[in-house]
Amino acid sequence: MNYQSLNGPSASDSIGKLAAIRLPELRGKSFLDLGCNEGFFCGAARFSGASRVVGVDYEPDAIEKATSHFPDVEFIRSGWDEYLDTSEEKFDVILFASAIHYAEDQEKILEKAIGLLTEDGVLILECGIGATDDPTVSFITHERWDGPKKYFTKGHLRSTVRKLNFELFYDGDSVKQMGDAIDRRVFHIRRRRQSIIFNFDPPGNGKSGMGSLLVAAGVYKRLDDLASDTIKAQPNSAFVVGAEQDIAKFWARLVDLSMHDWAANRIFEFVTSSTAELTYVEGWVPDQVIEQLDHLFAGTNFITFRMSRRDGYIPPTGRNPVAATHSNDETWFTTPIADACVDYVHGVRADNTFIMTAVGWHDIAVPHDQYCLIVGGNRFSGELLHRPNRGDLGPNRIPFVVSFKMPIELQQSRAVEAGARMYAVGAHRELFELPAKQALRDVRIA
Ligand SMILES: C[S@@+](CC[C@H](N)C(=O)[O-])C[C@H]1O[C@@H](n2cnc3c(N)ncnc32)[C@H](O)[C@@H]1O
Repeated sequence: MNYQSLNGPSASDSIGKLAAIRLPELRGKSFLDLGCNEGFFCGAARFSGASRVVGVDYEPDAIEKATSHFPDVEFIRSGWDEYLDTSEEKFDVILFASAIHYAEDQEKILEKAIGLLTEDGVLILECGIGATDDPTVSFITHERWDGPKKYFTKGHLRSTVRKLNFELFYDGDSVKQMGDAIDRRVFHIRRRRQSIIFNFDPPGNGKSGMGSLLVAAGVYKRLDDLASDTIKAQPNSAFVVGAEQDIAKFWARLVDLSMHDWAANRIFEFVTSSTAELTYVEGWVPDQVIEQLDHLFAGTNFITFRMSRRDGYIPPTGRNPVAATHSNDETWFTTPIADACVDYVHGVRADNTFIMTAVGWHDIAVPHDQYCLIVGGNRFSGELLHRPNRGDLGPNRIPFVVSFKMPIELQQSRAVEAGARMYAVGAHRELFELPAKQALRDVRIA
């Protein structure tokens, strides 16, 4: 019987496995499959728009069949050790499915495969995991029909990738296969990334109180300290004189002198000099500086969060380790800026009402499909009109079309363009900000 589900009955449920491994968006990306067998997943990657697909397997028969199934994929007949030792090509996505238990040195093969990832690349590892709570156990051995096989324990897998400065991100069930003695799981292994929480609220909103709570979880940095140090270092500069006693004046002066890029660069260096996993940064700075900071962080590996007490709150839910530490505080967190987006907004006037339709996507579960828009301090709830079918977004992204109704004056005052912030509202009133700057500047009136 064939192993993969290509022609006739198969030992493995490849279609179920394809769903379980949750391939990321592949359009324009490169994809490598180690132990590709007859090329099922290489074919799937090609159909999903991957620009380059390579499959490696040492079985001549498997490679021959794979080449005839998918002629525009490059299949290489080679042991994975030899391939990984000699190839220098980097890949955006590497799949290693139902195969690592065949490797002689599993830690080594994992390290070599990770070595071929691009900077933002992901290694998708699908494998059996030895169940034990004993942290001293690295592998569990199982007798199989084809001899004893060793399986990583989850703890050992995690510590192996952490040593390489990588992390197990997605961790989910895989499909069961006949003869499985243990559970199979799917892991997405990516480079560890530092998280930064920014709180730019004006004084009196509890920023430093929050900092003292967060300091246990990471590094706490105050933008006021950066300002004081700069003032001390350059006491006679034009942007310091007169602002020595008033830090807010210091930042505002920088903007007046068109030095917001300079200020943002100083803040960027100040914040990113820390190697901690979590850094909490607080301090009021003008919007122009914040905007420039967003640009600076956009192309980096840092995961940035915004936190504020000004517009709303969520009680902690436990899904965020930081929020969980202060159960009675009024705090809300937003999703990482990179993980949600409003693609565009369309505005229609009808009598005294302005109806705004927002189209976008996010990767968070919004249990009741509630959305809201905050314009000039007013909150409008949104009606979910449609979940468009957008295969281009990949399996973890949830598209939406939502409409909001608001009085016409709000649109006429251009408040929508200037200050609207859109949120998806989850269970327990979590507010997830959906960045929509670009779109909201571009409101069209039908
Ligand atoms: C159980 S199959 C899994 C196939 C495929 N990854 C899937 O999940 O459908 C394991 C595959 O790994 C290949 N393989 C085992 N040891 C290998 C090695 N040292 N180098 C290259 N391929 C190997 C086998 O030939 C086989 O095709």
